[in-house]
Amino acid sequence: MKRLIVANWKMNPQSPKDAERIFGGIRRTAVKLKKIETVICPPFVYLSLVGIVGNRVSDKRLSFSLGAQDLFWENPPAGKGSYTGEISAEMLKRFAVKYVIVGHSERRRHLGETNEIINRKIKTALKAGLRVIFCVGEKERNPNEDYLRFVKEEVIAGLKGIQRKFLGKLIVAYEPIWAIGKKGSAADAPEDILQMVLYIRRILLLVTDKDSARVMPILYGGSVVPKNAESFLRNAGIQGLLIGHESLIPKDFNEILRIAEKIKTK
Ligand code: PGA
Repeated sequence: MKRLIVANWKMNPQSPKDAERIFGGIRRTAVKLKKIETVICPPFVYLSLVGIVGNRVSDKRLSFSLGAQDLFWENPPAGKGSYTGEISAEMLKRFAVKYVIVGHSERRRHLGETNEIINRKIKTALKAGLRVIFCVGEKERNPNEDYLRFVKEEVIAGLKGIQRKFLGKLIVAYEPIWAIGKKGSAADAPEDILQMVLYIRRILLLVTDKDSARVMPILYGGSVVPKNAESFLRNAGIQGLLIGHESLIPKDFNEILRIAEKIKTK
């Protein structure tokens, strides 16, 4: 399987012109890579801009895909209805969106998304045929190991009742909240991420099946920069990265892509 490098642009950039520039800058490198699938997740308002361009260049090697940062949890018939401000899975698909991020800690915190809402969103997205990047991660790494219980609860509640046939479209992103947005200065240590990845696989055993728990891709996110990316990809037992800040700087992001391309997949 290809390694996944996901760009989470969050509420950036400010202008369509910048979005086009960043997108173009990344795409040029991304389409040339063989071992990586690059996924760009722009704000909804830029999806048409990058979606149409992305569609035109969508290449057979599947090295480049579009993702969304959220979706609505209800799936009304034909993907439309009276839900002011919301975007349906069906609408996303019309823009060639293949992936959707669900459960990001910033949405849990600022928008009050609960495990139950996240579970509904995951089910809706999977049913519509989207691939889900399901984010989990603790607020702090407290010494009494409460954080393990916290992540366990997020995984179990988020994946409650997911039909087996959809498990192949599920990706888990481990993003410790304390490591997000620190631009490299506070990223987790690869050996600690590895422990967490193994732990998440054990939890997945409780809510999925043996094969899925073994092979489901797990990404790491939180202050990934070119300097630490190689060590994560080599030593943390992960299948890819979810990148915020650095995904808005094509030069740095492309460097991470090139680093990922040269590391052998296990
Ligand atoms: P960061 O964000 O790379 O800026 O830490 C990661 C994320 O929140 O997905």
